[in-house]
Amino acid sequence: MKKIAVLTSGGDSPGMNACIRAVVRTAIYHDLEVMGIMHGYDGMIRNEFIPLGAKSVANIIQRGGTILKTARSKEFLTLEGRKKALDNLIKHGIEGVVAIGGDGTFKGAVEFSKTCIIPFVGCPGTIDNDLIGTDFTIGYDTAINTVVEAVDKIRDTAESHDRLFFVEVMGRDAGLIALRSGIGVGAESIIMPETKTDLEDLIKRLEGGRKSKSSKIIIVAEGDEAGGAFTIAEQVKKRLPDYDTRVTILGHIQRGGNPSAMDRVNSSRMGFSAVEALLAGRQGVMIGVVDKKITYTPFANAVKHRQGLDPDLRRMLEILSL
Ligand code: F6P
Repeated sequence: MKKIAVLTSGGDSPGMNACIRAVVRTAIYHDLEVMGIMHGYDGMIRNEFIPLGAKSVANIIQRGGTILKTARSKEFLTLEGRKKALDNLIKHGIEGVVAIGGDGTFKGAVEFSKTCIIPFVGCPGTIDNDLIGTDFTIGYDTAINTVVEAVDKIRDTAESHDRLFFVEVMGRDAGLIALRSGIGVGAESIIMPETKTDLEDLIKRLEGGRKSKSSKIIIVAEGDEAGGAFTIAEQVKKRLPDYDTRVTILGHIQRGGNPSAMDRVNSSRMGFSAVEALLAGRQGVMIGVVDKKITYTPFANAVKHRQGLDPDLRRMLEILSL
């Protein structure tokens, strides 16, 4: 193997740059040439390849976002798009690809592998933490720290005004951001897509706890089946009109910012291991860190299941918030 490429795809996440840096520097250490592909699979199709050297990844370990830009490619879903992408990989003499992204990225790689024999290895880059085969995805730790910092501020004002806040966090299909940040801020309850939302139960809890606490914070994962924070707050307000209720949507601040130490270390380990995995002849696998050890999970398994929510964590949250 003489030349590899690296790309980021899907929603960006803090730590992607640290991962790119690790890929490039590990490759150089092993005498490989590295090309960066801009804008993920779209750039592969549009021939947006750039050479990357040790210097081009200097001073990026601490930066959020991705220097390679990212996209959710519609064209890569088509056979024609994937054909153009393959032609470009061949044209540039690419013999291995490191794809940093989430489940859309790996589903794309699985589809591509039906016609493309160039090996792909993945690194899990998504704030949602919704992949099997790693304890934590790149960006998750930073995102939950961002949520905790923001909600601590909300708690100050909520407490001053004796208010009930519904705070919506990201996670289209997964409540893992809601769960861990909810524990971290001492939320009174969390609402997330993995468990059926029982608004009656929430209302009962809010009625019961009204006198003992002056502020209440409910964390709502955006993908919950009962609707977003505004919809849920409206319903609760109708039943509990005495509560002074407010809604905050945290939105894309959760995707930005300097990566936490944990994200920098994990993404460096993953980028490093991805290149060594390609050199060892591995392909079609996502690098993960499970119980502090590097693991290799076939793409199809990484995306097939959602990470289950630990029911003990949820139970603990509810007990601790009494
Ligand atoms: O997958 C990461 C994520 O941040 C989800 O939590 C969120 O639902 C989605 O991306 C938002 O995507 P976009 O930035 O394209 O609106």
